[in-house]
Amino acid sequence: MLNPKSAMFYANRANVFVMLKKPNAAIEDADAALEVEPNANKMERHHKKYKFVKAMQHMRQMEINNEEIPRLPLTRLRQLAIIYFMATWCGPCRYMSPEYTSLAVMYPKVVFLKVDIDEATDVALAYKVSSIPNFFFVIEGRKPYVIPVGGSNSLGTWGYIEAIREIKEQAAFDDIVVACGSGGTIAGLSVGSWLSNLGAKVHAYCVCDDPEYFYEYSQSLLDGLEAGVSSRDIVNIRNAKGLGYAMNTDEELKFVSDIAQATGVVLDPVYSGKAAYGMIKDMNENPEKWQGRKVLFIHTGGLLGLYDKTEQMAPLIGKWRRMDIHESIPRKEGTGKMF
Ligand SMILES: Cc1ncc(COP(=O)(O)O)c(C=O)c1O
Repeated sequence: MLNPKSAMFYANRANVFVMLKKPNAAIEDADAALEVEPNANKMERHHKKYKFVKAMQHMRQMEINNEEIPRLPLTRLRQLAIIYFMATWCGPCRYMSPEYTSLAVMYPKVVFLKVDIDEATDVALAYKVSSIPNFFFVIEGRKPYVIPVGGSNSLGTWGYIEAIREIKEQAAFDDIVVACGSGGTIAGLSVGSWLSNLGAKVHAYCVCDDPEYFYEYSQSLLDGLEAGVSSRDIVNIRNAKGLGYAMNTDEELKFVSDIAQATGVVLDPVYSGKAAYGMIKDMNENPEKWQGRKVLFIHTGGLLGLYDKTEQMAPLIGKWRRMDIHESIPRKEGTGKMF
């Protein structure tokens, strides 16, 4: 039974209307609640929230009707600007705000902006903010495309889906082995192999985090492609992190050096070196798993990582000496000199 004296009743019903996406009814109830309890701060905050929901609904309507949508602000700003949309009534924003302020101190070249969606509703609408907290990156009025670490998003996986097509044109394999650092390579190879009739099993050796993390992460990439397959069914991930990311045992570095001397193939210590080390170890421990199979090991590059290991590697390699560049070799001032 409705109690016309209860502000709480109106407030609660307003919340239900918000969930039902009926902002007009929510605002009416919020007004009624404020009439009963004019000094209720909480009610005032709710009121703002309903107004924003209403403005968003109006925005969607404008899009449907093809009416003119306001131009994005900040079109002339040359440096990177980060716009943080928040509201005083938003719980997560209260935690986020001090972090955002400390980032602004750490990165003085970036313009950090904070927009209260109740104070600047037109700006929030121009950016089509549909939830808060929300962050937008803007350069010269355009929204940059953010590439994640390793290019590992669903779009990036297409590179290695294509690689499978190339591999298939060249030869057939039973197994494909590769290093894994951010997950895009293995997502592409495994879904590519699964989709094609190559039928090769993909084995990943991760050099950071752990297999569980990469099963989850590659699953998110597969879901982004709407592949409809479980990562666990198409890729076998093993841990090859060892001492940690980009940290090597002497044994791993000796392995890289031995492979280079025996085959002429130089592996990098951070990715392919650890993956090949893990693969050979598994081959020795479980020969029946690999016997008679045609295995493709993909070398993913990264040789510059070796420069970081010269000091640790030098004593492990029998005969070596630093290459001298004779003084008589002319150098143009400022070029070819790293140090
Ligand atoms: C040389 C090298 N190999 C392998 C990888 C791993 O690939 P992904 O990041 O797609 O897992 C990377 C990238 O991090 C890399 O730089």
